[in-house]
Amino acid sequence: MSVRRGEDAADTGVMSPLDDGSTLPYSWYSNTAIYELEQRRIFRRSWQFAGLTHYVEMPGDFFTCQAGQVPIVVTRDGASGLNAFVNVCRHRGSVLVNEPFGNQKSLQCSYHAWTYGLDGSLLAVPGSGRDFDRQPFHLLPVRVETWGPFIFVNLFLDCNPLAATLGSLPELTRQTGLPLDLIRPRLHRKYEIKANWKVVVDNYLECYHCRVAHPSFCDLIDLDNYVVTEYELFSTQTGPIRESARRKPYEVGGGVEAGFYAYLWPNFTINVYPGPGNLSLNIFEPIDVDHTLAKFDYCFVDSVADQAIEDFAAFIDQVQIEDTELCESVQRGLRSGMLDRGTLMLPQEKAVAHFQRLVAGAIDGGQ
Ligand code: FES
Ligand SMILES: [Fe+2]
Repeated sequence: MSVRRGEDAADTGVMSPLDDGSTLPYSWYSNTAIYELEQRRIFRRSWQFAGLTHYVEMPGDFFTCQAGQVPIVVTRDGASGLNAFVNVCRHRGSVLVNEPFGNQKSLQCSYHAWTYGLDGSLLAVPGSGRDFDRQPFHLLPVRVETWGPFIFVNLFLDCNPLAATLGSLPELTRQTGLPLDLIRPRLHRKYEIKANWKVVVDNYLECYHCRVAHPSFCDLIDLDNYVVTEYELFSTQTGPIRESARRKPYEVGGGVEAGFYAYLWPNFTINVYPGPGNLSLNIFEPIDVDHTLAKFDYCFVDSVADQAIEDFAAFIDQVQIEDTELCESVQRGLRSGMLDRGTLMLPQEKAVAHFQRLVAGAIDGGQ
């Protein structure tokens, strides 16, 4: 394996060491030039999870989210249906909508009160003359599509349909037994992690660390029968419930009998834990080169009681606290600059290798 010191954003030929079982260059986890390339070549060109259809059921409903570093507003307009726009005012560039959710007839900028319709058209410009042409100042549109209750956006208007990214993921999710059409969001959590977004995704994609770091997860899932599978743009991890876990750490009986953890390129995960009907959605948003916001949406079927939801969230919280500590430790180690790359333990870390090949392919082959 040939490894060079000081690899940086100008390097090419990243792929062959990956084929030999190496990780991405460690410099890619703290290099701002790589981070900017990732924004352009990954986050501006891929389908990204935006939110749930439950947030935009009625005309006038809207919610805000991010596609990488780009603020997005998703709206439900009575006439044109579901829309998504770059959430930046066309006047002087203020973020237009700052609330996470809401219902309004129009969207008014808090700076100089330019006002937009839910279809993105500019409706009013205070102080403008009669001749002012509002038409060129429509909010910038973004592609928006849905899979069941999940809304995805894509900044690249000529992108392939969402279905091409999802592949067989909807069918595999259906096979878990989770009634996707009956779940609804009941809880949200946010965790700021002092680590590059790829450290957080790498960590999600292997359970090699579970026996060391996650005692409660190991009590629940049978790691001797844990299976990792890579697909084109996603990977899955599945493991049956341990017989001895039937009464802990939350209500695990009924409905779903195995854990199903799916990662979708570039930064979205779908987690179905054993139990009577739960789904946790994670999106790992890059804040900057060494900070990531992990946003969790917890959904349940209506029959799950509030106490069971609290127990479930406490279980996930504990796992996340353990993961945050691990990710922040990795970031500090990578930033030392003393090592060029790591080595993946295959097959346990094969989904990490799959993800890192996707990153390298996007950076090396992008525009
Ligand atoms: S920046 Fe939005 S109205 Fe001026
Ligand atoms: Fe973990």
